[in-house]
Amino acid sequence: MLVIVKDSYDEISREAAQIVEDRLRRKPNLVLGLATGSTPLGLYRELIRMHKEEGLDFSRVTTFNLDEYVGLRPGHDQSYHYFMRENLFKHINIPEGQTHVPDGMAGDIDAFCDWYEAEIAKRGGIDVQILGIGANGHIAFNEPGSSLGSRTRVKTLTDMTRVDNARFFATATDVPKYAITMGVGTIMEAKELILLANGAGKADAIRAAVEGPLTCQCPASVVQLHRKTFVIVTRDSASALNGRYPGTWKSSISLER
Ligand code: PGA
Repeated sequence: MLVIVKDSYDEISREAAQIVEDRLRRKPNLVLGLATGSTPLGLYRELIRMHKEEGLDFSRVTTFNLDEYVGLRPGHDQSYHYFMRENLFKHINIPEGQTHVPDGMAGDIDAFCDWYEAEIAKRGGIDVQILGIGANGHIAFNEPGSSLGSRTRVKTLTDMTRVDNARFFATATDVPKYAITMGVGTIMEAKELILLANGAGKADAIRAAVEGPLTCQCPASVVQLHRKTFVIVTRDSASALNGRYPGTWKSSISLER
């Protein structure tokens, strides 16, 4: 695990974008795992800029999103389908058929989850997975207590997550109770992980993830077992960490492996 501490949100966004760009230039048919939430927005903005100004080519990329609310249509403005379309897909040259977001309206959710896992496997697995982290230590919608070997499935959202996400909905009761989410085990099979955190509100979760015990009470702590994870955080998100960490991945090539 390489922990990178930067001064600002723009810098963590750029740092993450540079890693994605590097991997994409090396492998044009990259399989990219994507996340929603406020944290990856800056990364997506930077990737869009790289596409428009520097010709970064997404035409052969395949994407798989981490999660989606159960019961929201793809056109709902709080669905993760909508989020991805508005914040990334419509601004880059990725064919729609190469993007995958879990289907929150699936009639047979279990069958859908199996299909989603099989689709990832068919493409040789996820090369680079982007992750945010919840204030409670969740990754995707794997809430505290999630099995560390879990696969794509339905999870019940915790009250804390529903309160955290209520800011995006008209009323708190509109926040769905369930979501389809890649499992912790699914995420761990990605070849590289990029975990992003911004703001002091994530400091405790980042400490638990990076330096705490490996526990399902902080699903993000599983990244300690991953062979190639970048944790890219702002100084305030890193404020509860005890270790000393570098400021960029390019000067840390030996740590990168
Ligand atoms: P945020 O959410 O990026 O909106 O803070 C992250 C998460 O809950 O995983």
